[in-house]
Amino acid sequence: MNEIEKKSVCTCGEIDDNKKKLLEVIVSVNGDKSQLMKVLNAAQEIYGYIPTSAQKTISEELDIPMAEIYGVITFYTRFSLEPKGKYNIGVCLGTACYVKGSQMVLDKVKEILGIDVGGITPDGKFSLVSTRCVGACGLAPVMTVNDEVYGNMDPSKVKDILDKYV
Ligand code: FES
Repeated sequence: MNEIEKKSVCTCGEIDDNKKKLLEVIVSVNGDKSQLMKVLNAAQEIYGYIPTSAQKTISEELDIPMAEIYGVITFYTRFSLEPKGKYNIGVCLGTACYVKGSQMVLDKVKEILGIDVGGITPDGKFSLVSTRCVGACGLAPVMTVNDEVYGNMDPSKVKDILDKYV
């Protein structure tokens, strides 16, 4: 049994399934800190976001400071610090989108879903984030639903798009 496996074995019987899965991923990379992105991707997949408890586990097992892990998570938009709904709505507030009225699109999404930025609907179906440029400025203003990109948005289009996911 290697060091990581020794550290990761829970003797208390209270380890939760998600943590167990995360530890399995860490063991699979032999605790190699250069595999941080792989581990973070796995954590995002397992939890649907990367909670503080998971950051702590990764920090301890890979021996990487929490601040560094936090920095990586907040740099990449594919990682989230908040729980995400089944459908994560992103409205781009990058410059090109903002000057073309993306704030009004964002306000419309908030109004329809009844949640604020960073929020999640009570049924867990939708969450809402504002994003930085998603690299589709030619289509500004842009809204995303998970990996789907909707360009040339205006508030009147929001309801029809959301209805597709209900
Ligand atoms: S600023 Fe919105 S896609 Fe670039």
